Amino acid sequence: MGLEVAEQLGWVMPNVILYPTGGGSGIIGLWRAFAQLKELGWVQGDLPRLVSVQESGCEPIVSLLHDREGDSAASCDGGSCDASPTGLRVPEPPDGKLIVSILKQSGGDAIAVTREEIRQAQCESARMGLSASPEGAAALAGLFRLCDRRAVLPGETVVCFNTSHAAKYWPWQRHTSLPVVRCYADVVFPSRQTGR
Ligand SMILES: Cc1ncc(COP(=O)(O)O)c(C=O)c1O
Repeated sequence: MGLEVAEQLGWVMPNVILYPTGGGSGIIGLWRAFAQLKELGWVQGDLPRLVSVQESGCEPIVSLLHDREGDSAASCDGGSCDASPTGLRVPEPPDGKLIVSILKQSGGDAIAVTREEIRQAQCESARMGLSASPEGAAALAGLFRLCDRRAVLPGETVVCFNTSHAAKYWPWQRHTSLPVVRCYADVVFPSRQTGR
């Protein structure tokens, strides 16, 4: 992913990257790739500020970064987690400290967005013609938060990772007839299927 970002942006690093974080391998891999590219001299200047986005109710990285010791959202076990069952629900990421050190080194942050913010961001991306899974929509919701608190400046380049398709959590059942999906909006707003 790190190589793809650099290559697709013409070897110019973005200012900010928002990544929906569960176990944290995405953040670790991105940072490793950027460090290697820098060592090779393929990219110049500052590396991006990395921002981990988690869902409220299961936000161990947010709690660790902001030093909220004993926080229930940080210490929840899998069963007591109050977050949706998505790739973000990893109550005890094994490399939590490493992830936090990367976020700090990059000058980034970790933020938790609510289930409702994720839902709204998913609808927003569908309106833009983009199919986002809840994880990808969380990253977009995180961007809205950063904009609200002016943590992203006008003119900055931002990459928001949409890590999967909206259909990832479609309630597939073997013996029911399959829905007809003509556009991304049909996935995100299935009750509105119009038979166009
Ligand atoms: C779609 C999706 N996005 C994001 C994540 C979280 O990625 P990471 O484990 O690298 O933090 C996962 C994890 O399963 C996932 O399935």
